[in-house]
Amino acid sequence: MSQQVQGVIAPGKNEPVRIETIVIPDPGPGEAVVKIQACGVCHTDLHYKQGGINDEFPFLLGHEASGVVESVGEGVTDVEPGDFVILNWRAVCGQCRACLRGRPWYCFDTHNAKQKMTLLDGTELSPALGIGAFAEKTLVAAGQCTKVDPEVSPAVAGLLGCGVMAGIGAAINTGQVGRGDSVAVIGCGGVGDAAIAGARLAGAAKIIAVDIDDRKLETAKTMGATHTVNSRSTDPVEAIRSLTGGNGADVVIEAVGRPETYKQAFYARDLAGTVVLVGVPTPEMQLELPLIDVFGRGGSLKSSWYGDCLPSRDFPMLVDLHQQGRIDLGAFVTETIGLGDVEQAFARMHDGDVLRSVVVL
Ligand code: APR
Ligand code: ZN
Ligand code: ZN
Repeated sequence: MSQQVQGVIAPGKNEPVRIETIVIPDPGPGEAVVKIQACGVCHTDLHYKQGGINDEFPFLLGHEASGVVESVGEGVTDVEPGDFVILNWRAVCGQCRACLRGRPWYCFDTHNAKQKMTLLDGTELSPALGIGAFAEKTLVAAGQCTKVDPEVSPAVAGLLGCGVMAGIGAAINTGQVGRGDSVAVIGCGGVGDAAIAGARLAGAAKIIAVDIDDRKLETAKTMGATHTVNSRSTDPVEAIRSLTGGNGADVVIEAVGRPETYKQAFYARDLAGTVVLVGVPTPEMQLELPLIDVFGRGGSLKSSWYGDCLPSRDFPMLVDLHQQGRIDLGAFVTETIGLGDVEQAFARMHDGDVLRSVVVL
């Protein structure tokens, strides 16, 4: 028995999103149907709508979500109906070389739901990042569900499913920020601010926020930045060096995804420091560096995939820390909206007015 719910689809390249009736099959082996409670609006949803990810329209948008498991298919033992869960992008295989070496974020043998959700006329939907949660319910692999404390606000929990985890994870997992470290974060949108919050959580002594927009720098201070640099008016590399005794930061996190900011991150680190690249560039972007500088600077250059997170380890931990008041994930929720407001939320995101709009059901 399938069921019908309302969901937000992107019908075709650059066409406005709209609410449609979605047909959800009963969960098959290893699958779960989740009743969505909240789902954040992320840049990646906009990229899907613009055709920037692939052209497998129509998409069922939404992927930063939390909800309650409604039903599970055969063989599912980790979650059961009634569990409050955060959804993650991919159920990893657990057996490939990446998984066995403890880096499942590099697993490419992923097992998302096999059955398809469809429109009423049978058209198959492509769920954004294998989730599709701007909907009353969605079908996922049970391995995409991580149980967390049900007392947490669903809007806050959902954000851990993508951008906020990517930022916090860039600091604590990829960057391994430690107590007393100096950290610089270039680009203070949702991801950069989450990196700042992660650095504070990890005990960084100095957190230098860099952006070209003073409004963003003000918000960055509330997330834990101890110093701010507007890189339109001040050379950020010079500023970061001078704020760190001439050395550069122990960890520099790039959260923009542009050649000039990659270059700033490269030069702003301490000789033994770490650069964490979490901003996603486009395929044509190039970076030219003198080899002597590549050779001459030690430390490391790392990219961060999904905050190098282990959902089953990191989601419950961050929810618990939030519940204890040790990190304020509520600060990332700028507004809560309905399913019908996603198109306007894209516009506000584009104007830089919000950290996160969150659809609450
Ligand atoms: N120098 C410094 N900051 C910049 C620059 C620049 N040259 N250009 C843009 N910014 C700032 C913007 O002002 C904004 O505050 O970078 C921030 C980007 O934030 P958002 O657009 O909100 O993006 P966000 O969701 O934080 O994602 C940032 O991380 O995961 C990736 O795909 C994501 O590449 C994107 C990046
Ligand atoms: Zn996202
Ligand atoms: Zn694997």
